[in-house]
Amino acid sequence: MAFPKEFLWGGAVAANQCEGAYNEDGKGLDIQDIMPRGLEGAPTAEPTPDNMKLTAIDFYHRYKEDIKLFAEMGFKVFRTSIAWSRIFPNGDDAEPNEKGLQFYDDLFAECHKYGIEPLVTISHYETPLNLAKKYNGWVNHDLIGFYENYVRVLFNRYKGKVKYWLTFNEINSVLHAPLISGGIMTPLAELSKSDLYQACHHELVASALATKIGHEIDPDAKIGCMVLSMPTYPLTPNPDDVIATMQANNLNDFFGDMHVRGVYPGYMKRYFRENGIEIKTTPEELALLKEHTVDFVSFSYYVSVCESADRKEEGSGNIIQGVKNPYLKESEWGWQIDPQGIRYVLNRFYNRWQKPLFIVENGLGAKDVLVDDGQGGKTVNDDYRIAYLNDHLKQVAEAIEDGVPVMGYTTWGCIDLVSSSTAELAKRYGFIYVDRNDDGTGTLERYRKKSFYWYKDIIASNGEKLK
Ligand code: BG6
Repeated sequence: MAFPKEFLWGGAVAANQCEGAYNEDGKGLDIQDIMPRGLEGAPTAEPTPDNMKLTAIDFYHRYKEDIKLFAEMGFKVFRTSIAWSRIFPNGDDAEPNEKGLQFYDDLFAECHKYGIEPLVTISHYETPLNLAKKYNGWVNHDLIGFYENYVRVLFNRYKGKVKYWLTFNEINSVLHAPLISGGIMTPLAELSKSDLYQACHHELVASALATKIGHEIDPDAKIGCMVLSMPTYPLTPNPDDVIATMQANNLNDFFGDMHVRGVYPGYMKRYFRENGIEIKTTPEELALLKEHTVDFVSFSYYVSVCESADRKEEGSGNIIQGVKNPYLKESEWGWQIDPQGIRYVLNRFYNRWQKPLFIVENGLGAKDVLVDDGQGGKTVNDDYRIAYLNDHLKQVAEAIEDGVPVMGYTTWGCIDLVSSSTAELAKRYGFIYVDRNDDGTGTLERYRKKSFYWYKDIIASNGEKLK
């Protein structure tokens, strides 16, 4: 197999989906604390007990046990996020919360104990609630300054402890899910396109600023963007469908283009012009975007979609919607499974940007059944998950053979956690089963699934054991 010796094998989580402890040690509320149904329901006024993210899988208190299990699988890298409101409880505070900073010091030290490199998302759908309520999130220019304070604290504190950083999780999703992605309280239907693209501009400027500050404080740090990759195929060879597909891809690629090339592309200027979109930019901001581009591009990959010019077909996709592909099967949650799509997207991104690529999310959300393992313990026989990951990793190997530089691969939800889109625990991604249910019951015990041993073998053989 094609995997380079230094390939970074590992797994990924986000603070809000696993930590729990939503109000401990000085943490402020964030938008997740009022989203008990994820993307599928309205936010609540206050945190409510049916919100599984408030307690999640209690990673905040059990991270030592969990990292030990990751080390047992042989992880080289562990992706997690820092919960912004643990560091700045209201987002606009003058001073950071020492207890929050200490928690991540301890977490990163625990990773290093086993030779696991942390890969840190600075903002993963965790805008402090105060920034959402008081400023309407990233629509407001002031967010750039608050984010700047936050990243300055992070880079100074974790210099030498964290080498790989991602500025915003799935930055392009703000166009489709403005609250979860951008802390924007105005519902999407009422939000003007100008405000939406103004928010994008603010996030992009903040991302460039983080890249600048990160490089200044720690020249060894590698700073990347993170996009939701959604390879989009034309539904038919009709040229109208091909052009519609090109345009859909452009709207997604805009975010990578800005991070890698640092200038507003012509297709976007045209889109703004034809849709009456006006955004405010300053010459300083445009210079910042141009001068502080990323070291690498990272992305999530779950599904591909089709596009057609008349869009009569049923919607498909995760956060971004498209048209269903008649050639593909789908998961229990209706996400279409397309292993070759990951090879396609790796080639496409590299041809477009010539930057090293990092797959920081990929995996299968499924309903698992805990059974006796025949040796007095319990396990999950998740052959479906093994097949999914095996097939995707084989396509990653194909892309490496195609000449694409791939830095690493972190499976999503390497330990079961709360789903982002539906806020359920029933949608499990992990190699490690967590005994916790959506009604709040469960012991929180951890159990190794069959895929745990499979992934351990894959890592140990550097991909040679893929079938
Ligand atoms: C990505 C997010 O959109 O997909 C993760 O970055 C999320 O936070 C993952 O968990 C899987 O989606 P879901 O809805 O199944 O949790």
